[in-house]
Amino acid sequence: MTESSRKILVSSALPYANGPIHIGHMLEYIQTDIWVRFQQHRGHQCIYVCADDTHGTPIMLKAQELGITPEQLIAESKKDHKADFDSFLINFDQFHSTHSDESREVTELIYNRLNEAGHISRRTISQLFDPEKEMFLPDRFVRGTCPHCDAEDQYGDNCDSCGATYSPTDLINPSSAVSGAVPVLKDSEHFFFKLQNFEEMLQKWIRAGHIQEQIANKLDEWLEDGLREWDISRDAPYFGFEIPGQPGKYLYVWLDAPIGYMGSFKALCNRRDNLNFDEYWAPDATTELYHFIGKDIVYFHSLFWPATLAGSGFRTPTAVWAHGFLTVNGTKMSKSKGTFIKARTYLDHLNPEYLRYYFAAKLNNRIDDFDLNLEDFQQRVNSDLVGKYINIASRTAGFIVKRFDGQLTADCSELGLLAEFQQQADNIAQFYEDREFGRAIKAIMALADKANQYIADKEPWKLIKQQGGEAETQAVCSVSLNMFRLLSIYLKPVLPNLIENVEAFLNVEPLSWNDHQHLLIDHKINKFMPLMQRIEKDDIDAMVEASKETIKVTVPEITPASNATSYIEPIKETIEFHDFDKLDFRVVKIVKAEHVEGADKLLRLELDIGNETRQVFAGIKSAYKPESLEGRLTVMVANLAPRKMRFGMSEGMVLAAGPGDSDIYILSPDDGATLGMSVK
Ligand code: 2FM
Ligand code: ZN
Repeated sequence: MTESSRKILVSSALPYANGPIHIGHMLEYIQTDIWVRFQQHRGHQCIYVCADDTHGTPIMLKAQELGITPEQLIAESKKDHKADFDSFLINFDQFHSTHSDESREVTELIYNRLNEAGHISRRTISQLFDPEKEMFLPDRFVRGTCPHCDAEDQYGDNCDSCGATYSPTDLINPSSAVSGAVPVLKDSEHFFFKLQNFEEMLQKWIRAGHIQEQIANKLDEWLEDGLREWDISRDAPYFGFEIPGQPGKYLYVWLDAPIGYMGSFKALCNRRDNLNFDEYWAPDATTELYHFIGKDIVYFHSLFWPATLAGSGFRTPTAVWAHGFLTVNGTKMSKSKGTFIKARTYLDHLNPEYLRYYFAAKLNNRIDDFDLNLEDFQQRVNSDLVGKYINIASRTAGFIVKRFDGQLTADCSELGLLAEFQQQADNIAQFYEDREFGRAIKAIMALADKANQYIADKEPWKLIKQQGGEAETQAVCSVSLNMFRLLSIYLKPVLPNLIENVEAFLNVEPLSWNDHQHLLIDHKINKFMPLMQRIEKDDIDAMVEASKETIKVTVPEITPASNATSYIEPIKETIEFHDFDKLDFRVVKIVKAEHVEGADKLLRLELDIGNETRQVFAGIKSAYKPESLEGRLTVMVANLAPRKMRFGMSEGMVLAAGPGDSDIYILSPDDGATLGMSVK
């Protein structure tokens, strides 16, 4: 296949239909959109599909809570999501829904083919059932006391407080989060996808260049543990697709979610005559298929999904590309800090292209987490886009328009310099192709620096005043505007709106990548209009303020108002002095703090307690960067019995305050306290 005939189908992960789009989501959509626009800019056929992920218990329950049907809920959500994506210039060819005729058709086909090929098994399992709501409870809908650390009100699958994972049937005093009833165990027949049938195929697939190396290593570990059957059925009541021929049994949302990529594409094929579904999905397809996803859903996309496709006679993806999570100002997005920023709130205050640029400037093709530091964001966008790139045009266009009737010079004096800008095209294109957007932007900004240096050296504002300096002024400004045009070509995938305005200003047809091969000579441009405003700190502050949510918790037993806006935990049962005296609190120094592979909430701390070092796993990952803790003094319970956790022994606990997530504050002693001191 020649470079010019590529046919590419691309997806981003499908957002759930029960919540708003936030800037964490936008990282992925912006990453994908830039890549897709780059391919189109290069002249390839690149199609971008997505859809709302509409099925499952949470969506069913949310609709009930709102007193509307799930269909109404998902219709509302689709409208909002689509509006957010449009405003961020995410250029889907099709934004569909998994609750659609097209998705149902492909889902049923895939299920039937898997079943006929012997990849589906059935057996009866016992699960917690809410006798009041008459429904089986997903793990997250059972709450109770942690069997490991006795923390109350924990989810059915893992403990927020100590990080232990368990089954909902292990919880002490379980209750249904839906009705409050005590759940009972109930049998039901479930359907399973025999993932283990695909072990050999997957082993080869994950080492054949379809996924990033970091991910392949993780998958190897999972494969070594052995693949197990995947439970793909749920009992009524459930919002989803019924299993063909099995009334009352539904397909689990995660089976039909990725099929939504195919459903969305099918809907597009129904609208566009020149598209053929099989050309993209037949097992021998020569087209390319890429899925952009977050690293949290790798298991679904790199094991279940290729196996599902292979088992039902479809092609497997060319590649699955994962990215890391977004943090804001160094920590997990937080509603109380105002850094859980919804797409709409951002748009109420700031230009979407600022964020597109900042994400591009920092993105690479690895799965490391991505930090949006709001100060750096302001500084970087203002300095790069306004201070460097746009500055090239704003310093030179005025002379051309006012003194030369908008006319760029007929013979260009600086072909060598401009050739340098043109020669960078392949290099920059390769960075885009490899999803190394940060490196592409770096190369583009290095050229912008060169252009500004050229203008500073030539000083057209002085030249124009010199006798006979007119021709040279026109030449210098024409060269500068040619540099500006070349940079605009390279920036177009990132800043589509801005570049549209640049095209109007330069009075040219929509620019495509190959236009870098020629220059604008003897051409008339239009009057320069300001292309982008600087980011004002006030606007960022206003956005953060608008994103702040006071935590509203209803605690009838301690606050008479049911909508109390602050939550003070009830004081626990009184204890005697000798109970308190049993606790041995010590001043300790955090000598080392680090992430724990596979743990969402925990950090591993090494604590110097004066005469020995202890290892403690603390659920404070969302609140602290490990390096910010090293060297700090804090207080620990030193005589807590060691506890074996999934990641190793935890030998005590550090004291911290706060409701959880990023709102956690470890205690620090006043100056003067030293290592090992007993705290009374
Ligand atoms: O994790 C999520 O937000 C899912 N809604 C992603 C689904 S992606 C694909 F499989 F549909
Ligand atoms: Zn626990």
